[in-house]
Parts: sequence; structure tokens; C-alpha cells
Amino acid sequence: MNIWLFGYGSLMWRPDFDYLDRKAARLHGWQRRFWQGSHDHRGLPHAPGRVVTLIETTGYCDGVAFLVEAAVAAETFEHLDHREKNGYQRIDAELGFRNGEVVSGIVYVASPENHAFLGPASLREMAHQIHRSRGPSGTNREYLTRLADTLRDLEMADHHVFELEAAVNGRQ
Ligand code: SIN
Repeated sequence: MNIWLFGYGSLMWRPDFDYLDRKAARLHGWQRRFWQGSHDHRGLPHAPGRVVTLIETTGYCDGVAFLVEAAVAAETFEHLDHREKNGYQRIDAELGFRNGEVVSGIVYVASPENHAFLGPASLREMAHQIHRSRGPSGTNREYLTRLADTLRDLEMADHHVFELEAAVNGRQ
């Protein structure tokens, strides 16, 4: 069976895997937060950056769902498990499309129990950390900018992301 994968962070703008289809999608009961440490992509082991995870709460998170073909699902998820290895785990999710259709899917979530979880901090602290961090995949600031640009392109609102973007840009 083909599998819908929901992306809400870098998977949205850098899907480095094959897919049959992609659509704007909404996940209820979760919100995107820059609460996950990145020691391997946007920071370093001794100086982690901040990337997004999902926090279980009221509200919703808008993102992009990718349809992964059954025939390549095993190798695709092996690749993605490696890419998301710093604390993320696959969980089952219900995804809503803009036409009202609801499908079962999968999403990578870094839970508060994982070793790299940073949790909340003040806007100022988070902006400072994102401003100064960089890792093998580039600067932490670029991650935030790409995320904000992608959300704007898709006409998706996320106060947390846009507020952080403004705070980081205000530092220069
Ligand atoms: C995702 O994009 O769905 C997971 C978080 C990330 O890789 O930025």
C-alpha cells in the first residue's frame, strides 16, 4: 500500500526521496515548535541548533503530505530514519486535505523524552541560538528562513515560526 508521509519542517522544502504525489495537509492535535535540538544538521554536538518538532496540544499544524509508493517504501523510510535519526520517531497520524478528505499517514515526531529535546525557551533565547548556530547542513537561520518562506508560499500561517523569524532578523 502506498503511504502518505506528513512533513512540517525540512521535509517540506527538501524532500530528497521519490514520491507519487504531494498535497497541502493539516494535522490536528499537534503544533510545530522549535523545541528540538539539532546536533547533526543545523548545529554541532557541543553547540546544538534548534529545529522543529511537533507538540501534542489543541490546535493544528499545516504542512505537506507526500505519497510514497509501496514498492519503494522500505528503502525510503530507511533513508528518512537516518536523516531524522537525532531523536525523531515515526508515528501514525490522520491527515486532512484541503478538499476535506482525511487519510492515514506517518509523521516524524521528536518527543519530549528524546535525548536531543530542548523544550521551550524565551523568544529572545531561541532567536539567539538560531542566529548563532550552524552545522553540516547549513546555518540554523537558513532552516528557519526556508521554513517561513515555504509556509508563505503555501499560504499557511504559523505565528510561532513568523515571530521567531522576525526576532532573528531583528538581531542583525
Ligand atoms: C519534518 O520535516 O517533517 C521533520 C522535521 C525536520 O526534518 O525538519
